[in-house]
Amino acid sequence: MNKIHAAITAVQGYVPEYVLSNRELESLVETTDEWIISRTGIKERRILKGEGLATSDMAVHAVNGLLKKRGISAEEIDLIIFCTVTPDMPFPATANILADKIGAKNAWGFDLQAACSGFIYGLTTASQFIESGKHKKILVVGGDKMSSIIDYTDRTTCIIFGDGCGAVLVEPNEEGNGIMDSILKSDGSGRQFLNQKAGGSLRPASHETVENKEHFVFQEGKTVFKFAVTNMADVAAEIMEKNELTAEDIAWLVPHQANKRIIDATASRMGLGSEKVMINIERYGNTTNGTIPLCLWEWESKLKKGDNIVLAAFGGGFTWGAVYIKWAY
Ligand code: UT7
Repeated sequence: MNKIHAAITAVQGYVPEYVLSNRELESLVETTDEWIISRTGIKERRILKGEGLATSDMAVHAVNGLLKKRGISAEEIDLIIFCTVTPDMPFPATANILADKIGAKNAWGFDLQAACSGFIYGLTTASQFIESGKHKKILVVGGDKMSSIIDYTDRTTCIIFGDGCGAVLVEPNEEGNGIMDSILKSDGSGRQFLNQKAGGSLRPASHETVENKEHFVFQEGKTVFKFAVTNMADVAAEIMEKNELTAEDIAWLVPHQANKRIIDATASRMGLGSEKVMINIERYGNTTNGTIPLCLWEWESKLKKGDNIVLAAFGGGFTWGAVYIKWAY
């Protein structure tokens, strides 16, 4: 029997309608369209507006579209891995909420928290359940309502993040395609540079934490940039070397969209021209767990069976890693 790989067999994304442009940000904080574009590559991002709407609501759009595309019902799903830093609630898991909203009655699920590397952590986790034969259909969802934890008076963070969600279906493949390898890393000593200080057991919510704005994203941008630019490029190069892939062998790099300069450095380290790099940061900003599945969704029609694809991410934690995929359809 051929080895079973875990393959992505469908992908779908969802971004909310509201466009938050650099021009609008100019009216909120001391910044300019020119500064934001030159330092990050971002022109606009989407924001989920409306009372009572949360991360799971974006996921419902993405997953319902995905199920329709693949022609299967929600009841066929075995497992939901929901990668997010903005769960609907601290508990229960957003995976459970999503399962209820879409009618995935036979699935179990959990939330996975690895900041901007969440989706590649989730994909790797899903691949283990498929390769072992335990499950046949797994949803890996990556999505965040970043606007719920962003301080729109802080110019160092509010220009970067946006809302959005993507989902993939992972199934067994016996044709030699699918997730071939992954390298995942973490270094918790980086937690001081990118975090949300309050709301956990260390700093439970209080008047003080609210007044101090500790429920918003804090980032020491320069330091995170330094670690991101080195580690994302290093791990992408490492997965190429480990799998004896040259730049010519690679059809696409799918990088986490945190900063155009970090993406360019990673592509350059891999020896890839910009024509092989998926970039949509100019329209969506950094959607945290959403960036990679949203890219796959937007580029889906250009992907060919057997294409060698490298996903790479770096995020809070610190967490980082790369996944090597042979596209399955
Ligand atoms: O996805 C998770 C991982 N996150 C990342 O990978 C993000 C990594 N970091 C970055 O992308 C960049 O560090 C930022 C985009 C956040 C900031 O860019 P930077 O080139 O590192 O700027 P900086 O923080 O060094 O700030 C340079 C200057 C400062 O002014 P002074 O001190 O030189 O006078 C800032 O106050 O730019 C100022 N500045 C701004 N100016 C206009 C900071 N934010 C803004 C702004 N508009 N929005």
